[in-house]
Order: sequence, then C-alpha cells, then structure tokens
Amino acid sequence: MEDEVAELSLRPRYLAEYIGQSQVKENLKIYIEAAKMRKEALDHVLLYGPPGLGKTTLSNIIANELGVNIRTTSGPAIERPGDLAAILTNLQEGDVLFIDEIHRLHRTVEEVLYPAMEDFALDIIIGKGPSARSVRLDLPSFTLVGATTRAGLLSAPLRDRFGVVSRLEYYTVDELSYIVSRAADILGASIVGEAADEIGKRSRGTPRIANRLLKRVRDYAQVKGDGIITADMAQKALRLIQVDDLGLDEIDHKMLRAIMTHFRGGPVGVDTIAATIGEESQTIEDVYEPYLLQIGFLQRTPRGRTVTAAAYRHLGLPVPSADG
Ligand code: ADE
Repeated sequence: MEDEVAELSLRPRYLAEYIGQSQVKENLKIYIEAAKMRKEALDHVLLYGPPGLGKTTLSNIIANELGVNIRTTSGPAIERPGDLAAILTNLQEGDVLFIDEIHRLHRTVEEVLYPAMEDFALDIIIGKGPSARSVRLDLPSFTLVGATTRAGLLSAPLRDRFGVVSRLEYYTVDELSYIVSRAADILGASIVGEAADEIGKRSRGTPRIANRLLKRVRDYAQVKGDGIITADMAQKALRLIQVDDLGLDEIDHKMLRAIMTHFRGGPVGVDTIAATIGEESQTIEDVYEPYLLQIGFLQRTPRGRTVTAAAYRHLGLPVPSADG
C-alpha cells in the first residue's frame, strides 16, 4: 500500500513536470490550449505503446491541464453496455473518461461508445421485437482517453473516432536518469548522478521500471550502506535482483536462452516459447518482446521469432554459423 501511495506521488501532475515524449507533449499542449480557448471538450485521444511508459500518467495530466474531472476504468471492467451507459451519464461537461486496455472492450460495449464519441449521445433501445424503438439521450460533451499496448487490435471504427492518436516511445537513458533523480528527490533519498545513470541504463526505456529499481536500490543502500545511493550501491543492488547491465531480467534471459538452446536460435512461435519457459504468451508479447526487438536481440519473421548474434554475444554464448 505504501508503495502504491509513493507511486502515485511520483507521477508528474502537469505537462511541465513530465519528462520525455517531447513530440506527444508538444502536440497535446497545443490541443489542450485550443480546447480551453474555445471552451470545448478536447477531442478524443488514443495513447498507445508498451506498458509502463506513462499512458495513465498522461491521461491524468490531460485532465489536470484541462481543469476537469477524470473517471478511470478499463476495457475488461466494463462488462455490459449498461455499465458504460451508467459511467457516461454520470460525467460532467468536459470531463475526461480514461479507458485503459481499450482493445479489450466487449463488442456490444464498443457499439455504445460510437454515438457517445461522435455525437455525445446514447441510443437506448426500448422494447423488443417489431415494436422496439430507439430513443436518443444527450450526454455531456467529454474527452475519451483510450490507452492500449496493442493499437493493432483496435477495431477500425473505434480507432477512426479518435481525433488525436499518439504513440509513446521508449525513453532515453538521459531521460530515465532524470526521472530517477526527480523520484529520489520526492522520496527524500540522496542519490549521486552516476547511480541515477546506472539505474536509467538498466530500466529498459521504461519509467515504471526505473522507479521500481530506484526503490530496491534505496532499500539496499539503507541496509548495506549509509543510505546514500552511490553507483557502487546501485550496481550491487541490481546484481542481487538479477537485472543485468542492459536491464534484462531473469525472464528475458530464460526466453533468449530457450530459443538458443531448444530451437537453435529460431524461428519459433511465441506460444511455443511461452510454453517452454512457463510464461503467458500475452505477457511475452506485451512486456518482454517489445524491448528485445527494440535493442535488436530478437527479430520477428513470418515463421516466428529468431535471436540475433548480438543476443548470443550478450549471453556469452558462441554465435552459431549460418550453415548451422
Ligand atoms: N515518472 C514516471 N514517468 C515520468 C515522466 N515521464 N516524467 C517525470 N516523472 C515520471
């Protein structure tokens, strides 16, 4: 629970405090300002990209910058059309409705969303059979902020109804180092610049991971040192939790090693990899694979995933020759 409270307070509340994603930020700033000048609701925003890059944080910032309330829910949490209708009719003029994992909305729920997004209206069917008729109910204007790790899984009609579509990118080491220093400051921990860089380097481009590693390193420095987070403390703490110098953890290692040793480097399908190492395919695809693709350790081919020579070198294994 304490972690959760700290997590919340670590999150920036305004665009000016939000580090990185400069393109997305710059655009949002303009659209937010324009909407405020016109006293209209901001157009619907779709945020997509790997987990932990700040989609939820940004949606809260959007509401704060607009000066409106935010109602937060998620695709799988909205089970029936009536659940969504209840949420929509309780919004106030200009509010933000944040739907996380929006690609997991039920089809029947999604259909309620179309007229809501387009005309701020709810179409209610009254009666059954030949005497059924539809009654249109006006809704307050609102901004839907949708977040997904899988933009490709969104249906075209839903995707087309977002006026702003922003892709979040992995953060640079410098940005992560800055985020770590800022978070340490908020937590009241002293950290030297090199330690922040060390954590930044091992955070897989992801602020959520950076903040988690910071907390574990802080624990280590408190118990094993004098509380000051030095580069040496950071390295020792990270070694202990098996985060390597590129930020790869035990599961990344297991996955790469499995493809190398059981499947001669691939190609092999995700489901097979998942079964081999005992992880969910979904988790591999959403959490592990994107970063391994990004750093060029993994490649996607029509016949499955293959590991690259760089991955063999990183694990200290001989690179197989082309003719196997
Ligand atoms: N904490 C988590 N993500 C952040 C970001 N993008 N900027 C500042 N602090 C953060």
